[in-house]
Amino acid sequence: MNAVEAFDAVDLIRTKRDRGELSTDQIDWLVDAYTRGYVADEQMSAMAMAIFLNGMSRREIRDMTMAMLASGERLDFSALGKPTTDKHSTGGVGDKITLPLMPLVASFGVAVPQLSGRGLGHTGGTLDKLESFPGWRAELSNEEVFAQLRDVGGVICAAGAGLAPADKKLYALRDITGTVEAIPLIASSIMSKKIAEGTGALVLDVKFGSGAFLKDIERSRELARTMVELGEDAGVATSALLTNMNVPLGLTIGNANEVRESVEVLAGGGPADVRELTIALAREMLELAGVADADVERALDDGRAMDTWRASIRAQGGDPDAPMPVAKEQHVVTADRDGVLLRQDALSFGIAAWRLGAGRARKEDPVQHAAGIDLHAKPGDEVRAGQPLFTLHADQPARFARALESVEGAWEIGDAGAAVQDGGPLIAERIGR
Ligand code: URA
Repeated sequence: MNAVEAFDAVDLIRTKRDRGELSTDQIDWLVDAYTRGYVADEQMSAMAMAIFLNGMSRREIRDMTMAMLASGERLDFSALGKPTTDKHSTGGVGDKITLPLMPLVASFGVAVPQLSGRGLGHTGGTLDKLESFPGWRAELSNEEVFAQLRDVGGVICAAGAGLAPADKKLYALRDITGTVEAIPLIASSIMSKKIAEGTGALVLDVKFGSGAFLKDIERSRELARTMVELGEDAGVATSALLTNMNVPLGLTIGNANEVRESVEVLAGGGPADVRELTIALAREMLELAGVADADVERALDDGRAMDTWRASIRAQGGDPDAPMPVAKEQHVVTADRDGVLLRQDALSFGIAAWRLGAGRARKEDPVQHAAGIDLHAKPGDEVRAGQPLFTLHADQPARFARALESVEGAWEIGDAGAAVQDGGPLIAERIGR
């Protein structure tokens, strides 16, 4: 005989639909029953939409997070005998910060377990970028992750299927039901995975602006506060930086070209914004892990972070000296007049890179590692008529037309002295203890 279920999904959906609160027991049951397939996708879709429309209390969000955490395993790195610290970004255009950040922080003797994902839509995925190295392996066993943290100090790899399986199922459903952009669902999704990963400290890079999930800073602030509270409640030292994603980060959007730019940062150079954010996040991660006043700039400039990077690529089967793939076709867009670049919209450029083949429309699609965009100017830069503004890279020239459509009207050259797109400072706020 089948076990008697504690609740009825329809009752719970009605409660949320009518703006009621779900109890801890109801949320525990819902997440568990959905994970084992008793609650159907149709029912969970209705629930996700009710949450999207009516929200959840802080207590409900905490219960949702803990229920998704309990759906899988929780890693434990205490046997390493050193502190662990990690960073999570809510995703943006040209956001390659994880690549230089992991080895930089690990070079201070703090373990960095960076369990990452693949890109979907216009925001890139860290694993897709690293797979530009032929032979580099994203999938590691828990034992391999532990060994790499012990021997190299840091690891960037795929989050295993055992971590928060309820979230994997629910996130895939949200993706096709228009329910991704709900703060309770984003917060519980991200934090259940990060708590499961077993890190002792966590810094959240919460983006706002055109290229971010949440466009306005107020909603990003609310998301950041919610996630910081969830982390602290679970015993993870957590803070957040609110960072500007109105303009692409750095001068590259894609995969292989973003690796190239990350290596420049690890060599002490690279674009100023990528270096600034890498340094700020590294300081935050180290402080939360108990390493005060670390000379982070020095570790970039003297090659220590680069040594850790090279060791980590090698440990996962890649060759850090391998040439990055190059696309078969290029299309250069030039300035049509003298003046100053006033605008460069992150979302439009992100979509263009995706249309060139750098991203995927469906989870199972491959990405083209050499596809993407190199920017030759940023807002505020003076340009001359005929000067290259950006270069599109693709393997199939047929992709250029749709990519160009996406950036139409997304950039603008004006007279010297005209107002440059007001992106504000790159790092707008810090949230945390
Ligand atoms: N990233 C996640 O892991 N989950 C979300 O809900 C949104 C972004």
